[in-house]
Amino acid sequence: MISKQKMKVVYGLMVYFLVVGVLCYAAFPVSPPEEPMRIMFKVTAGKVLFDHYAHTSETAYGLSCWDCHHHPLDDDAALIACGECHTANETAEQPPDICGDCHEPDEIEDTPIIKRSDAFHQGCIECHQAFEAGPIECAACHMMM
Ligand code: HEC
Ligand code: HEC
Ligand code: HEC
Ligand code: HEC
Ligand code: HEC
Repeated sequence: MISKQKMKVVYGLMVYFLVVGVLCYAAFPVSPPEEPMRIMFKVTAGKVLFDHYAHTSETAYGLSCWDCHHHPLDDDAALIACGECHTANETAEQPPDICGDCHEPDEIEDTPIIKRSDAFHQGCIECHQAFEAGPIECAACHMMM
């Protein structure tokens, strides 16, 4: 038989872990959404490897998700593919349907929306220049393999 004293210790520990568990759960109520860790873009100019972890880990200048997933700012709704809004077309006479989820057509009719490859080039390269880190030259991103 386990002594009463030992049972008290066991119950004590159980309560302790329950409290710690609840506190941890309360402190981190939502786990960050899953993002694909690495993405390989395949285009005519060669493959481009994009590594989420290299960009979001603490050592990587502490970038936040919304430094890139910019629209709307600080909103989980922005954590979607850039290409959903920045389509392959050059012009925005016909904004992508997805805009209509959040905007009335007349709110956005004059918004220039840059095409997919410009969004990547501008977004990637301007930030690398700003941080003086990360590739800027064509061949540093595009691998001909
Ligand atoms: C340095 C810029 C950058 C940062 C920081 C970043 N992402 Fe991304 N993310 C991208 C790019 C680029 C893509 C690919 C978009 C595409 O294919 O159109 C992407 C794709 C995604 C996708 C896939 C969307 C889909 O439908 O395919 C998810 C989900 C995502 N990111 C979540 C996150 C989360 C969560 C964080 C923060 C922990 C984060 N991202 C931080 C640039 C970034
Ligand atoms: C939900 C729609 C949406 C998504 C998703 C989106 N964008 Fe945008 N983006 C916009 C809109 C609208 C504009 C123009 C207005 C503005 O600057 O906010 C824009 C503008 C830009 C610009 C030009 C900014 C400037 O200063 O001229 C860049 C670069 C860009 N986006 C890159 C990206 C990248 C990279 C991603 C993915 C990580 C992304 N966008 C995802 C809607 C989106
Ligand atoms: C998930 C909802 C959502 C989607 C999808 C979305 N937007 Fe927005 N948009 C917002 C919110 C919220 C704001 C105001 C706050 C902000 O700027 O982040 C905004 C602001 C704007 C503004 C005013 C920006 C400024 O700086 O004055 C423009 C223009 C705009 N959106 C255009 C677009 C276009 C074009 C698309 C489609 C390519 C789009 N939005 C898709 C939610 C969205
Ligand atoms: C908001 C800023 C920002 C944006 C946007 C951004 N980067 Fe970076 N990138 C960085 C920083 C900062 C580093 C340096 C990280 C380090 O050295 O630890 C980096 C490093 C890299 C590296 C070298 C590290 C590795 O992954 O092996 C590659 C490749 C890269 N970026 C590709 C891209 C591509 C492709 C895009 C666009 C889809 C992009 N980046 C968008 C900030 C950014
Ligand atoms: C920071 C990384 C990076 C650098 C630097 C870079 N690119 Fe890109 N490039 C990309 C990404 C990401 C894409 C988009 C892939 C996609 O659309 O799936 C792309 C797409 C392209 C495309 C395909 C465009 C299309 O419309 O399909 C061409 C061509 C291209 N790049 C040429 C270049 C040239 C030339 C340079 C140098 C002047 C350059 N890139 C520099 C990352 C980079």
